Amino acid sequence: MVPAFPSSAHILVVDDEEDILLAARLALKRHFASVETLCDPAALPERVRQGGFDVLLLDMNFARGAESGAEGLSLLAQVLAIDPQAVVVLVTAHGDMDLAVRAMKEGAADFVVKPWENERLIATLNAAANLRRASAEAAELRSRQRGLAAASQSENDLIGASPAIRRVFDLIRRAAPTDANVLILGENGTGKELVAREIHRQSRRSKEVFLRVDLGTVSAALFESELFGHRRGAFTDAKDDRTGRFRAATGGSLFLDEIGNVPLHLQTKLLTALERREVIPVGSDRAEPIDVRLICATNLSPEHLNDEQVFRADLLYRINTVEITLPPLRERREDIPLLLEHFIAMYAHKYNMPRKRITAAALDRLCAYDWPGNIRALRHAVERAVILSEGTAFEAEDFPINAERRVPAPALAPVSGGSALDLDTLERGTIMRALAQHNGNVSRAAQALGLTRASLYRRMQKHGL
Ligand SMILES: Nc1ncnc2c1ncn2[C@@H]1O[C@H](COP(=O)(O)OP(=O)(O)OP(=O)(O)O)[C@@H](O)[C@H]1O
Ligand SMILES: [Mg+2]
Repeated sequence: MVPAFPSSAHILVVDDEEDILLAARLALKRHFASVETLCDPAALPERVRQGGFDVLLLDMNFARGAESGAEGLSLLAQVLAIDPQAVVVLVTAHGDMDLAVRAMKEGAADFVVKPWENERLIATLNAAANLRRASAEAAELRSRQRGLAAASQSENDLIGASPAIRRVFDLIRRAAPTDANVLILGENGTGKELVAREIHRQSRRSKEVFLRVDLGTVSAALFESELFGHRRGAFTDAKDDRTGRFRAATGGSLFLDEIGNVPLHLQTKLLTALERREVIPVGSDRAEPIDVRLICATNLSPEHLNDEQVFRADLLYRINTVEITLPPLRERREDIPLLLEHFIAMYAHKYNMPRKRITAAALDRLCAYDWPGNIRALRHAVERAVILSEGTAFEAEDFPINAERRVPAPALAPVSGGSALDLDTLERGTIMRALAQHNGNVSRAAQALGLTRASLYRRMQKHGL
């Protein structure tokens, strides 16, 4: 399919026949941002060093050379030695499939056969330009992540010595080096994302990209375009080709966070892509292979995850080859002192504050607390204490928690004060009322609240309903 408006790609065409260059220029100029031609193959290495083009269309059989294509292959090797990311599309003589296959093995992105059909040439160059963009994106992410990883490894350290967390570490160690799909389960703030990153770090793909997609925030309308990509003109806002996340993560790990939030009809699309190991961008008729290690996470309880009305069983089997369940902090209280130490050191360093000790009374209280927000809440409590406390040691009052806190019944809920706890209480009350009005029917209560079933389940679980 030839797109209706020009691509932003810059094309460089190399051939030693002026006629061919002219034909290429005429065929391509309306479809690409620029088309540059080069008649002297010997000048190509220098031109590649200068950069500034996205796709190189390279003839394999120069008129004065033999038909072997040897000169073309050697030029391809030179180009890739100068720019390993270069995207090269080859032009081969009709019937010379062996040469085309060999060139693809040696790093060419695609090939067209001479004499070419314009439509096909344009489509091939467009796909190649898209590939160029995707690999440039991934390369940038990789280098950014390497920088970040070096700067913040201690922020990403997984802390814990309890038997429960040690079982998790052990599972990570065994599952990470395999390419198995991993599903991470756990309440809010238990460390699911951290575990996903750790799996990537210990995997064979650690030098490649780790890409996170928060499916909780992707709207249903953009779901396919976000994950699978789209072609220009596929819908009104599709001004340019877009590489989907599956392709952008090629070679690396794709972390689908909050997978429990995906509505059922989109779960089917995801399942199809995973089963076929290929994606079809919106507006395209060409499937593209995917090569990612899939890591998913959700805070849905196993009970809700196994409810076919919320989550498709066949998708679940596809993503949970290895399942890692993160225990809530209240089930591994022996980790609380370790985590406190870790976060106190981290924030004292960050805010340039003294590294104070913590009083026994404060420690008792923090260890007795149930931590419904788990490690994230503990981390925030420490950050606040480090910034605000004035004494020589951290006291119980420095941590804004109420160890006696039990979620009160909605009728007794305080409505003033403006704290996040009040909001939680209000939300819990509203959900309880909606459920009561609909005799506990979750579908109807969800509809009344304007929520999907999955997101109502999530909220019910958060409030222990
Ligand atoms: N074992 C751990 N050691 C140190 N820090 C941790 C640990 N687990 C989690 N954290 C920290 O707690 C915070 C929450 O972790 P993370 O975002 O991974 O949780 P989550 O399970 O993805 O939460 P949510 O369900 O709300 O998305 C992060 O700041 C993370 O660094
Ligand atoms: Mg998370």
